[in-house]
Amino acid sequence: MKASAIAHSNIALIKYWGRSLDHDPDLNIPSNDSVSMTKYGLAHDVRLQTHTTIDFSDNYEEDTANLDGAVLTGRNMDRTLRVVDPLREFARVDSRFRMMSRNDFPTQAGLASSSSGFAALAIATVNALGIDFTKEEISKYARLGSGSAARSIHGGFVYWNKGDSHETSFAQQICGPNEFDMNAVIAIVHEGKKEVTSDVGHNLAHTSPFDAVRIKRSESQAKEIKKAILDHDFTRVGEIAEENCKYMHAVMMTSTPPLFYWIPETLRLIGSIQEMRKEGLECYFTIDAGPNVHCVSRPEDTYELRKTLDEIEGVIQTIPVEPARDSQAVKKHLF
Ligand code: DP6
Repeated sequence: MKASAIAHSNIALIKYWGRSLDHDPDLNIPSNDSVSMTKYGLAHDVRLQTHTTIDFSDNYEEDTANLDGAVLTGRNMDRTLRVVDPLREFARVDSRFRMMSRNDFPTQAGLASSSSGFAALAIATVNALGIDFTKEEISKYARLGSGSAARSIHGGFVYWNKGDSHETSFAQQICGPNEFDMNAVIAIVHEGKKEVTSDVGHNLAHTSPFDAVRIKRSESQAKEIKKAILDHDFTRVGEIAEENCKYMHAVMMTSTPPLFYWIPETLRLIGSIQEMRKEGLECYFTIDAGPNVHCVSRPEDTYELRKTLDEIEGVIQTIPVEPARDSQAVKKHLF
């Protein structure tokens, strides 16, 4: 009972920040709908994806998991079990598992995302256990590992309906990777792990007085950006994404305790992106729970955008990406 999967990471255009207070926090039910682009690195050695193999067998005495050569323990192992245990129960399987996972991310770039990790884990587990699930059903189980992983099951542009239960909170594809023309360049200005993980941040969001406003706005922006994507309106997509990112960081900065993810280089990039836009290269920024900046543009501008970003003081590395295909099961096993 062995299966493998490759899943891509994603960048949120409408952010998930904060779990709904009305549900069990372990379910990762968000307070608002969110929208993302699933990413595929344009450089052959930086695809930004996770390859995972899982094997269930009575020969194993205990569950073990390994990520990039390190044995998973504590919180990381708990999150793995949150995905695997309910699926194992659903399939009525008692066997223990061995799991191995590899990230194709630049070492220490602060990018290693749990979105591709838990999406790959959910797809591989469902296949190893022989469960016949739709992508939407798999998305619910990926969500139990990390919220954003629910969106990484699909390629292209993705909408996560917040729902109000485990059964109703899952992601659906808005359109495939070739149906809306948008790329992104990631500008890395800080390497290494973030000090406060999203997991902790999700529990702090509601302490900000601006949280309710962000949730309300995000709900309408999610619907509006979906329409803009389907209308091929790049300008509108960029404008809404940038605005939504600012709302999230306003909530982060005004939580108790406050979370400041930006560093001086982040602000320098924001300024340069505004400047590029004035000069006719249309691009927009979005920033997750860290200082690195994603800059979205039309595909034909990717090369010039990257060249300009590379020259900005403090930029360590740039990574160009395009919309990815669906994450999926693969025949190649890691062991
Ligand atoms: C800021 O709980 O999915 O990226 O475990 O860090 O992957 P990680 O985070 P998760 O929260 C994601 C928060 C976000 C916005 C988003 O992706 O929607």
